Amino acid sequence: MKIMVINGPNLARLDIRDSSIYGDLNYAELKSLIETSASSAGMQADVRQSNDEATIIGWLHEAADAKLPVIINPAAFTHYSYAIRDAAELLKAPLIEVHLSNPMAREEFRHTSVISGVASGTIAGFGPNSYVLAINALKSLLG
Ligand code: DQA
Repeated sequence: MKIMVINGPNLARLDIRDSSIYGDLNYAELKSLIETSASSAGMQADVRQSNDEATIIGWLHEAADAKLPVIINPAAFTHYSYAIRDAAELLKAPLIEVHLSNPMAREEFRHTSVISGVASGTIAGFGPNSYVLAINALKSLLG
């Protein structure tokens, strides 16, 4: 079973982001954790990152066409990208929204997710383990 894992802006620079908020893994280590966890769950994860809204929308269209399940950390786009929300709504398989931090425990502008309404569920606040939990959630959703 193939899944697409999409990471939004600034997530490739976890090496220089605040580790007390985002955890200790750099992006390469996070990618490897996702690939290994997916593989243990019997899935093949295609893990991508972009700082560009249009690129992420294109990937969501690709996943919709291929009927792929998606795990997405939209990063700052979570809070305002109606275009990513509309693209996510086109998916034919489950969508899990993930966050490393718990946005509800942070600044007020992070309390809104425009993506959650089109996701099967959201997992936030567990650092890199949020992705592992999302993979397990997908596995149980897909049976
Ligand atoms: C984030 C939370 C967002 O508010 C923030 O803009 C990010 C990362 C997270 O994974 O905790 O870039 O999505």
